[in-house]
Amino acid sequence: MSTDHHGSFDITESPEYSGETIKLLLERASCRNFKEKPIPEDVMYTVLNAGVHAATGGNLQPFSIIRIENKEMRQWFADNCGQEFIAKAPVSLLFCIDMHRLKRWAALCNAPFAADRAFRHFWISFQDTIIAAQNTCTAADAMGLGSVYIGTVMEFIPEMREKLDLPDGVLPVVLLCLGWPKHYPEPRKKLDVDVLVHREKYHDPTNQELLEAFEKKYTDRNTDITDQQMETFRTVCEETEGKELADRFVETVKEKGFFNMAQLYFGLHYRASMMAEGNPDIMKVIKNAGLNFWE
Ligand SMILES: Cc1cc2nc3c(=O)[nH]c(=O)nc-3n(C[C@H](O)[C@H](O)[C@H](O)COP(=O)(O)O)c2cc1C
Repeated sequence: MSTDHHGSFDITESPEYSGETIKLLLERASCRNFKEKPIPEDVMYTVLNAGVHAATGGNLQPFSIIRIENKEMRQWFADNCGQEFIAKAPVSLLFCIDMHRLKRWAALCNAPFAADRAFRHFWISFQDTIIAAQNTCTAADAMGLGSVYIGTVMEFIPEMREKLDLPDGVLPVVLLCLGWPKHYPEPRKKLDVDVLVHREKYHDPTNQELLEAFEKKYTDRNTDITDQQMETFRTVCEETEGKELADRFVETVKEKGFFNMAQLYFGLHYRASMMAEGNPDIMKVIKNAGLNFWE
């Protein structure tokens, strides 16, 4: 890899594979349709080995990956996540924070241990787990597999702990489904680089710039609004913002004849009123998993 005299990277002199890697990253998309075809063991080993080689704070690797292939287990995950395509993926990988292994190692080595009750360790181990997942995901894409993350596993952590024999200190974070795509999806639109990257300091866009950036990303409009959706939207708005603002928000939907994407996301899909309310329950689930990061 070479640099020009300004010290910046010269893509024309890069090894050929780096161009392929960039193409892979720019053309990737989540895949939710899989062929009934197993993934050979050597392919799986390469993919998993890429995950194991990820960057990790202090080189501690505080994570474990549960490999799910059994049909009954795949269906169990699909049912619990309410997403049927999960059962069709020949392999799903459950990425978990794992303080259990490190705790046992420390004990066997007569070393002090508090990583299972230190927020700093939680902060880093969460990142370690996700970085390993993303390395795995990119490796899978590079092998021609399709992949999709499933975040809804956080809704049934106690059930997974029992079903998968997870010991105290092991906390599921995300599921990654893998399989040969029936057809590879088109990449989805993203906010532009200029919107997400701030040069030297944070630059807050004007209201107009901000709205334009999101309008460029989300062009689809769903005009089929049901009474039930309107009712839910009003309730969520009222519980989160109070009656006066709720009236105004509902009025804008009626005027325009559709929910804009922000209203759809925070008023219907990821309901603002439910999200923050769930905090105590989630913290209890994490504590029950033998991780006491907050006290
Ligand atoms: C942490 C996380 C959780 C996700 N959970 C789900 C999920 O439960 N179900 C699903 O179909 N897609 C899920 N996705 C995939 C996203 O919907 C997808 O990445 C997003 O819509 C952007 O599309 P793209 O990946 O094709 O660019 C998840 C992605 C991430 C990173």
